[in-house]
Amino acid sequence: MQLTDLLGCRYPIVQGGLAYVGNGLLAGAISAAGGFGQIGSAGRSLGQLAQELTVARRRANGAPIGVNLPLSEHADREAYVRFIEEHASELRAVSLSAGNPRPYIERLQACGLCVMVLVSTPDQAQKAQSAGADILVAEGYEAGGHNGPSEITTFALIPQVARAVSIPVVAAGGIASGEGIAAALSLGAQGVQMGTRFVATIECEAHDAYKRALIARGSADTRIIERSVGRVTRVLQSPYVERILELESHSPDWETLYPYVRGERNRLAAIEGVTDEGWLNCGQGVGLIEDVVTVEELMQRLVKQATSALRDAQIRGAAFA
Ligand SMILES: Cc1cc2nc3c(=O)[nH]c(=O)nc-3n(C[C@H](O)[C@H](O)[C@H](O)COP(=O)(O)O)c2cc1C
Repeated sequence: MQLTDLLGCRYPIVQGGLAYVGNGLLAGAISAAGGFGQIGSAGRSLGQLAQELTVARRRANGAPIGVNLPLSEHADREAYVRFIEEHASELRAVSLSAGNPRPYIERLQACGLCVMVLVSTPDQAQKAQSAGADILVAEGYEAGGHNGPSEITTFALIPQVARAVSIPVVAAGGIASGEGIAAALSLGAQGVQMGTRFVATIECEAHDAYKRALIARGSADTRIIERSVGRVTRVLQSPYVERILELESHSPDWETLYPYVRGERNRLAAIEGVTDEGWLNCGQGVGLIEDVVTVEELMQRLVKQATSALRDAQIRGAAFA
């Protein structure tokens, strides 16, 4: 089955789960514009998630929506899984990331949900397929937020994952324009998942300081934090992030590092705009962000750019005909 049939959307453009800033209005607007929007559950209580789901459904106006569940982010993971089961009739899909999806795939499918699993190596992709996933989101090292420890870039990852599995593959990491979408399709993906680009939209609840920073900064302005504790998190460079990196250069234990990197520090910067006291997730595609626009305008632009990039590539590739 094709990706767009599984997700019930017109364009194969998925909005990734966005911790703190993946609000219902954003998800609903993306689905209403023909993509597939997902509410981020990271950083939200179950009550907040329920509220965002209501907002998303109203804004989506009948178009299908999803929820992202980063498994390791929730201490009370079971409660979030039950929430999704209880609200399954209001959702089309759930995406599972940051943890072992195997125990949850069949359970969520039994409620009629399509299950997407985030992977970052071809090996993980095969395992997720054999565990029963419907769709794989293969995310490369360019991506904003938590990355896989193997640090494989999108360009190298997607063709390998596409060869390794038979279910639809969605490419993520560094895609912020229609040219990137066209490239992902050429690499063997059926669609794309984007995160950083969707933050710079009117509907996203991120603070204006975050959106302005995404316009001002370039692709060389991201950093990886948390490597000292075996994690790979791509964030926007800032004096606060340099303080984290300085601390990490002394190989701190988790208890020492945690107060600087915990989710609350992300929320402070991303939602309240206190960027000297917190950090912002950001992918390398940030260099392509030039404005803050409505989701509708961005989606139309992406579709137009992808269409002409695919046509231009065909012309340039005439020698291979
Ligand atoms: C602000 C932000 C928050 C994110 N939070 C999550 C999350 O909670 N769960 C998740 O699976 N991925 C999360 N990601 C990753 C995205 O879902 C997506 O895969 C990634 O952003 C794609 O790369 P890009 O940023 O280059 O577009 C986050 C990314 C960003 C930029």
